Amino acid sequence: MAEQARIGVTGLAVMGSNLARNLARHGHPVAVHNRTEAKTRALVEEFGHEGEFHPAETLKQFVESLERPRRAIIMVKAGAPTDAVIDELAALMEPGDMIVDGGNADFRDTRRREAALREQGLHFVGTGISGGEEGALNGPSIMPGGSKEAYEALGPILEDIAAKVDGVPCCTHVGPDGAGHFVKMVHNGIEYADMQLIAEAYDLLRHAAGQRPAEIAEVFRTWNSGRLESYLIEITAEVLAHTDAATGQPFVDVVLDQAGQKGTGSWTVQNALELGVPTSGIAEAVFARSLSGSAELRAATRGLPGPGETWLDSAASDRFADDVEQALYASKIVAYAQGFNLIQAGSAEYGWDVDPGAMATIWRGGCIIRAQFLNRIKEAYDADPGRPTLLTDGHFAEAIGGAQDAWRRVVSTAAQLGVPAPGFSAALSYYDALRAERLPAALIQGQRDFFGAHTYRRVDREGTFHTLWGGDRSEVEA
Ligand code: 6PG
Repeated sequence: MAEQARIGVTGLAVMGSNLARNLARHGHPVAVHNRTEAKTRALVEEFGHEGEFHPAETLKQFVESLERPRRAIIMVKAGAPTDAVIDELAALMEPGDMIVDGGNADFRDTRRREAALREQGLHFVGTGISGGEEGALNGPSIMPGGSKEAYEALGPILEDIAAKVDGVPCCTHVGPDGAGHFVKMVHNGIEYADMQLIAEAYDLLRHAAGQRPAEIAEVFRTWNSGRLESYLIEITAEVLAHTDAATGQPFVDVVLDQAGQKGTGSWTVQNALELGVPTSGIAEAVFARSLSGSAELRAATRGLPGPGETWLDSAASDRFADDVEQALYASKIVAYAQGFNLIQAGSAEYGWDVDPGAMATIWRGGCIIRAQFLNRIKEAYDADPGRPTLLTDGHFAEAIGGAQDAWRRVVSTAAQLGVPAPGFSAALSYYDALRAERLPAALIQGQRDFFGAHTYRRVDREGTFHTLWGGDRSEVEA
């Protein structure tokens, strides 16, 4: 047994203890600490044989058990609990030591903490970790921010425990200060969009084509062997095929239809709004969860009239699953394109120099949105790292071109039959807005100028103009 631990984890709830076990299993002597000591003991008793654990009763012992420079990972609740542990740890640490926050922190908090700890000569590494409990244990996708120097000391260990795809670790240095947590936030936003689109596909197959959950599970299984292959499609098939033991009903029918959310989706949208990046796919996904949870509103409106026709005829039903697959793929491309644009905007705003292709690379495995598809995104950014959108990449442009007739049929079918499909339709509107020769924004500029003299620019001349709407309607230079 080494005298000191190479790395430590404090906060031993499921994610923390699984991460500690993953480190130990990879041969890294790991110090473990939890505020209630019973958890530390339980972990070592149950899993001590998996590697070298250094249990600590107090944070002081925990810090003392770490080799220099110290590497301490915090796995506690985001917000005030994280600040409290950071303060306590920082007081015990020495210059050059590293505090790693592996929770879903707000990247602004991470920026603030990084700056404060830098003053004390400590490195603060805000790290996104995705993959849930199973990922933490068997290989997550890891998105560390912070200084290059900290990454040099920490990166090899994190890369060692991360998921691997084609031998490449799903972990890389994302960029300084809050970059890692920003990218994790966008990952979660994309996760929301992806889940919403899948849910809409299910809803359409169920409520427009009349398929049963078990049949839809089969459809998803088939899709999972094609271009949609991904963890989320795979688990969707599992959930849809599951039968509730108590009632014998499809599991999906006995679950209350109100989706929860912990906040990273709405953070993504808030930041997108602030940075002026249209991420309608993510926004619709967040709002769809909010709407689902608006129980009173839904109860009050349940009787509102819908369309006369509510089902597809059987011939149309037969073709429908293929159409929905195409709509799902096209909408997914849009959601990812929007998410990557947000990463690029955040990177430019905060001076992070994030490599979007590298983000696609580390999302190929370990994380919740892991998918085949991310290889395509990586290739697109490798070919042109500064591309304005993924939609112009040859593969994606062709895929959308091929899918668009079906995509339009699905969106119009949803509207005609009264099945809500906000993700599919927002994605299609975004696509059509981007390709439009002219947008009605010109009319909005006219309205703004009319009621508030907000001025406008012209297509044919430089300058800023105002029309004297209340007078002779002549135009003046503003
Ligand atoms: C991950 C997930 C995870 C997130 C859950 C729950 O990457 O492992 O994104 O970090 O907390 O998915 O999120 P919601 O409760 O907001 O759905």
